[in-house]
Amino acid sequence: MPETTDVTFPQDRTCPYHPPTGYAPLREARPLARTRLYDGRLVWMVTGHAAARELLADQRLSTDSSHPDFPVPSARAEVVRERPPAALLSRDDPEHNRQRRMLISSFSLKRIAGLRPRIERIVDALLDTMVAAGPPAELVSAFALPVPSMVICELLGVPYADHEFFEEQSRRALRGPTAGDSKRAVEALEGYLGELVDAKRRKQGEGLLDDLVAEQYVPGRVGRQELIELALILLVAGHETTANMISLGTFTLLRHPERLAELRADPALMRTAVEELLRFLSIADGMLRFAREDITVGDTTIRAGEGLVFPTSVINRDAAVYASPDRLDWARPARHHVAFGFGIHQCLGQNLARAEMEIALGALLSRLPGLRLAAPPEEIPHKPGDTLQGMVELPVAW
Ligand code: HEM
Repeated sequence: MPETTDVTFPQDRTCPYHPPTGYAPLREARPLARTRLYDGRLVWMVTGHAAARELLADQRLSTDSSHPDFPVPSARAEVVRERPPAALLSRDDPEHNRQRRMLISSFSLKRIAGLRPRIERIVDALLDTMVAAGPPAELVSAFALPVPSMVICELLGVPYADHEFFEEQSRRALRGPTAGDSKRAVEALEGYLGELVDAKRRKQGEGLLDDLVAEQYVPGRVGRQELIELALILLVAGHETTANMISLGTFTLLRHPERLAELRADPALMRTAVEELLRFLSIADGMLRFAREDITVGDTTIRAGEGLVFPTSVINRDAAVYASPDRLDWARPARHHVAFGFGIHQCLGQNLARAEMEIALGALLSRLPGLRLAAPPEEIPHKPGDTLQGMVELPVAW
């Protein structure tokens, strides 16, 4: 039985692209360690890469966030317990599978390949505006956030004109100052999406939500509330995540001039670079589960009812899988990282996210050869440990 470590979870990163320095003891304690959450609950920390994949693929683990055994990382995240479990991510099979099957074809490689020209146009137009106005620029608001936000709006059929509203509510939902504030933000988003669904029922437009209204809601296969919940997770997961990868990815490249020079010299490297950045940055740094039954991993038994935390920044730097894991390296095979999760909940939007990152980072580097940070790196704020990792702001010049 692994000993309880005095490592608390979650912790803020010291450097925005490295695991929190306080997680260092976990790297010696693979594949499993024990830790206490903020509320005193003892949970498992899954730190080994092989164990993480084995457990994430094990359907005896649950993501039902409304269940009392679900581990909650902070007081402000307690909101999840008071709400019905989110669509997809907080549902177990077979319900999860039923929801996922409705959406999977819209995120296939082929569908996303068809979206690439549109993503390129969005990226180019945003860079045109930024270049015309600057330098300097604040890259999160001028580029990193609007790229995925515009793309997911188009894909879903959500009017981008409402972006200030839903971006602000998403931010509050994920890291509002209090649980009550997060709850109100989720309710505001649901109210907004409910009206949108009703409008689409009256008059069909173009987008995935319009298709879901016509094919699932009107024939009675899916109710209004479920459709709203699906729209909510797609809208929030569709813009916050990739925005963080673009902002933190840019910051990381600017802090690794040699890697940046290699990418500029050979833009064909971008595909593998995106994969390595996903591994290296591990922005979803704490997937959460609990065991519905006893599960044995190696010589350890996880008991029914116990919580598990998956710090992806530690898992994706397991030296047994990635040589010199703290080194950013375009030549390594970064595949098999768990930055998009693993198992039935593995990121639905991963093909889209990869396309957005490749196009956005590629265009940023080719259009702005003199891109640089416009503030001392240690003064640029990044996000706290109990939410998705990324830059709060990113002042740049060129
Ligand atoms: C680089 C950007 C992204 C990262 C790092 C990321 C990461 C993740 C991770 C780690 C999970 C699994 C969570 C868990 O198992 O607990 C996940 C699930 C999910 N992601 Fe992403 N994501 C990204 C972009 C997107 C985009 C663009 C969408 C677009 C809609 C999206 C939609 C979803 C959905 C719907 C799920 C739940 C899937 C399920 O439960 O079956 N994500 N994502």
